[in-house]
Amino acid sequence: MMPFSWDSWPRPIIALAPLAGWTDSAYRQTVKKLTDGIVCFSELTSVDALHHKSNGTYRMLDWDPSEFPLIMQLFGKDAPFFVEAGKILEDMGVAGIDINMGCPTCKITSNECGSALLRNPQLAAEIVYHLSRAVSVPVSVKTRLGYERYDEKTFLNFCTGVQDAGAKLLSLHGRTRKQAFSGAADWEPIYLAKSVLKIPIIGNGDIKTVDDAFGRLKTLDGVMIGRATLGDPWLIAEIVAAVRGETYVRPKDIWEKLPVIREHFNLAVEIMGDRVGMNEMRKHLAAYIKGFFGASDHVHGIMQAKSPAEVIAIFDAIEASRERLLARA
Ligand SMILES: Cc1cc2nc3c(=O)[nH]c(=O)nc-3n(C[C@H](O)[C@H](O)[C@H](O)COP(=O)(O)O)c2cc1C
Repeated sequence: MMPFSWDSWPRPIIALAPLAGWTDSAYRQTVKKLTDGIVCFSELTSVDALHHKSNGTYRMLDWDPSEFPLIMQLFGKDAPFFVEAGKILEDMGVAGIDINMGCPTCKITSNECGSALLRNPQLAAEIVYHLSRAVSVPVSVKTRLGYERYDEKTFLNFCTGVQDAGAKLLSLHGRTRKQAFSGAADWEPIYLAKSVLKIPIIGNGDIKTVDDAFGRLKTLDGVMIGRATLGDPWLIAEIVAAVRGETYVRPKDIWEKLPVIREHFNLAVEIMGDRVGMNEMRKHLAAYIKGFFGASDHVHGIMQAKSPAEVIAIFDAIEASRERLLARA
């Protein structure tokens, strides 16, 4: 595989955001099958857990070459653990390594990881410095506008610090740690960072439509989309097609979506096994089916299902409901 570089990946970069509990290999493969023009980020993985050889955490690193260029995201606070984890990822052939400096959850920040690194720019830069010198793949950082509040000077110093330490790209979510996911994302500081920094910048926060993606792009190198793709991975394919000047025909109803949903489900069960695969898929299936006539009965069935065969029977029932409708028409 050709080495990946952020500088040579076509512009604008369209990225699938890392979403813990959602953007596992099965979901990323599903998105990649819909469009090859996307860069996927993995869920965050703990460098401490990798150091302690946790089997569950190793399983989070499962990926398929069809996901290339996959950016695997790590979190932690000890540079030597990042170096150790980085070498594992490099040997696995991932395209790049991203460092999580944005996660707002207490479990992560109370351990001085994730967005807590915004309060410790020196440590943040030190981690980037050591990791980027230990691996040959590009190291990037994903962060927020600030910890308690946005302060222009502090924000720009932080971004410049990780850039000068060796980060090859920054993904910026337009909220502070304190805001978590409340309010609206503020993109102005992201454009400001782009005007000051030399490395490529991806903007992130609240993109829900193709128009949002175009409207937000402005001077940036790319945009990253997360929550709006859940239950709607076609959105990303639609955005990639739009930036390429192509038209994308979205599936117009649940029946047209069903082949992709079935494939996503089969992949999850194949990769994670019946029990874990089914559990991981319940929320995806609820998101896919939401809003469709009769959905609540099917969601209830999916939540109660005890085996993949029971879920497949629900897919078959959804399919049969179309045949009944057509027969009545
Ligand atoms: C359920 C959930 C899980 C997330 N997990 C991660 C993660 O593992 N790493 C990370 O950097 N950001 C994570 N985020 C933040 C998203 O990547 C993204 O920055 C945020 O959702 C804003 O983008 P959106 O409005 O397009 O969803 C998560 C967000 C949500 C809602």
